[in-house]
Amino acid sequence: MNTDRTVSTFVDFFRDRGHQRITGDSLLRPPGDPVLFTTSGMHPLTPYLLGRPHPLGRRLVGLQRCLRTTDLDEVGDPTHLTVFEMLGSWSLGEYGGPQSLRWGYELLRDGFGIPPGLLHVTVFGGDEQVGPDTDSLRTWNELGVPVELTREDNWWSNGPTGPCGPDSEIFVWTGDTPPSGTPGTDGRWVEVWNHVTMRYHRGEDGGLRLLRQPSIDTGLGLERLLTVLQDKPSVYECDLFDPWTSTVPGLWDTDEVSLRIVYDHLRSGVVVIGDGVLPSNTGRGYVLRRLIRRVLTTLWRDDPSRTLSDLPTEPLEHTLDHFRQPGGTGPVRDVLLDEERRFSRLLERGRQVLSRQGYDGSLREQDYGYLHETHGLPRELVDGLRGSRG
Ligand code: SER
Repeated sequence: MNTDRTVSTFVDFFRDRGHQRITGDSLLRPPGDPVLFTTSGMHPLTPYLLGRPHPLGRRLVGLQRCLRTTDLDEVGDPTHLTVFEMLGSWSLGEYGGPQSLRWGYELLRDGFGIPPGLLHVTVFGGDEQVGPDTDSLRTWNELGVPVELTREDNWWSNGPTGPCGPDSEIFVWTGDTPPSGTPGTDGRWVEVWNHVTMRYHRGEDGGLRLLRQPSIDTGLGLERLLTVLQDKPSVYECDLFDPWTSTVPGLWDTDEVSLRIVYDHLRSGVVVIGDGVLPSNTGRGYVLRRLIRRVLTTLWRDDPSRTLSDLPTEPLEHTLDHFRQPGGTGPVRDVLLDEERRFSRLLERGRQVLSRQGYDGSLREQDYGYLHETHGLPRELVDGLRGSRG
């Protein structure tokens, strides 16, 4: 099942059950939002989960692009991506958790053809403040799906304050052997779908208050689902990444982890640029700058003559099309190449400064401070240049 069919199967399933499709927001949050980027499917819906009526009604379905920098160091492993997409379904104060779980089970089994014997779920087992999620436990018992109870792993919030509540996560077995263990004991259980009962609001003082109307928020990572449905060992082998994996390795011959960093960071960079961000030294622009510079550092480690101007148009075009970003590949390529030139000049200056006397031994804090403030050389880059001198 390819990407388009996977998305339409999900959306149509919920449409048939009275949900209206919402258009996914851009990655950029409006002014006043404390975070830089949309980090989960429910994020743009926060006011509605807190009780404001949504113009499209109380049952919604959608696909939302998200960006998480918390996972940046994990990029390169089989499952973590910087920009990813979440399919989601929402009940704004209408049906409850058991209905959501039953539909989830039905869609995975009948819509996506996942054998029920390959499913395992986790459920909130209760803590000092909130009792166990008995509704979810009972529902899964009735459906005959094995349950593991946890505490922290089954409590969802999008930050220290705001809507939150117990969740139930659905895992699919990806091992070559018959299923064994539980999600908590065997990493071959891969989490695909999270159903949250947003029942509480956590205030500034850390206290929980009950929401007037609890809502259901579910999120299913598109790329992880594709990996399972297409029976691939990593997200990078799904059809979504074909335009990258069919062009980049022929261009830049390097190891698998480096290739994954290049695919992920370049693709994420293209989406961020497509949403209107330019590289800079603060905020969103700094995240973009780090992504592009990490690609360049990775490529130049093996061969400093590599350049992003060799990048074929196909992966850029496919990415912009997939995320429905107008404007064409030309402006995106210009931003990438401009950043490459800046970084290259900065490295050159860094080499010259560091080759001067006084920077041979270990550096003091004031050296780092001087190099940064006077020469624009961040610590990371100074360390990298000193390390690469051997
Ligand atoms: N908010 C939950 C998550 O991000 C479900 O959408 O996993």
